[in-house]
Amino acid sequence: MSDILNLKNIMSGYGKSRVLFTANNLRVFDYLKKPKSAKALAAKLDIDLRATTILLDALTALEFLQKDADFRYVNTSLATLYLVSSSSLYQGDIISHSDTLWKNWSGLDEILKTGKPNRSAHNHNSFIRAMHNLSVLKVKDVIDCIDLSGVKTAIDIGGGPGTYTIELAKRGIETTLFDRPETIAIAKEFVNKSRRKNIKYIEGDFTSDAIGGGYDLAFISQVFHSYSVKECMGLIRKVKKALNKNGKIAIQEFIIEDNMASPLDGAMFSVNMLVNSDHGRCYTVKEMDLWLKKCGLTDISITNVNEAVVLCARLTDQTLDF
Ligand SMILES: C[S@@+](CC[C@H](N)C(=O)[O-])C[C@H]1O[C@@H](n2cnc3c(N)ncnc32)[C@H](O)[C@@H]1O
Repeated sequence: MSDILNLKNIMSGYGKSRVLFTANNLRVFDYLKKPKSAKALAAKLDIDLRATTILLDALTALEFLQKDADFRYVNTSLATLYLVSSSSLYQGDIISHSDTLWKNWSGLDEILKTGKPNRSAHNHNSFIRAMHNLSVLKVKDVIDCIDLSGVKTAIDIGGGPGTYTIELAKRGIETTLFDRPETIAIAKEFVNKSRRKNIKYIEGDFTSDAIGGGYDLAFISQVFHSYSVKECMGLIRKVKKALNKNGKIAIQEFIIEDNMASPLDGAMFSVNMLVNSDHGRCYTVKEMDLWLKKCGLTDISITNVNEAVVLCARLTDQTLDF
């Protein structure tokens, strides 16, 4: 792509996002499983006809909808798979969460002056369900990166909606989901739907509350990027004490190279954490590897999977005293 096209794309990218957010908020894709005219959709949703027509044409240009010769609109296969709420790969909650983040990102000019986040918009429900939307696309691949031999018990720290907890439980591991009470309430819905019985819960704040003990594995997924280096290492030390002899820690985070400026998604995610957290950012593999070593973990393995990285490490008899 030429430089000027790239610049224009970045400059106007917000419009494409906004059209998708609004369509998602209106649940347009749930109503367009079968072809409908703009008039029929506007009547169904009780919204303005001119606005509806323009929005549907933009969604057609974005290839979320197709328009037939009779000017009726219907979902494309992409929308059917990811944007219809009954699909198992539904992404509507992460789109809704992105809409919330949009409001916080709008404070970026001020954040640059103060260095303080702008968390004025928050929707905990869509945030936690958004985590399920992301994880459902890769849960098996991520858990496959962990050597589960000898693992009978696990804790999923900051387990969110429980997508990874459920996968560990499916593999016969008694798994404890640790998270804040308001998150556990949502996770219970997902766990109940899965009908897994070998799942326990601990409600609390891992920076101050006890996390239990006797675990063969601690899984810490997409948690570190919200915290400072000191806080991340504090969590590793705390988790270590809760592990059995030869216990393991597995970490999943987004990828950022050592130069902190690529890939683009990682660099942009660091901006997201600038906007939404006090001290967070993406961490490099080198940084996390060092934390694990400093905390006395060994046998560190690193696997790239679905735009994320999974680091696994082990306690040995020699490292128990660190
Ligand atoms: C980005 S989500 C990741 C969820 C899940 N691990 C995943 O990978 O899909 C971070 C999770 O950590 C939880 N969390 C963050 N800080 C926490 C704390 N201090 N105590 C307990 N849970 C915390 C949040 O409630 C949220 O569920």
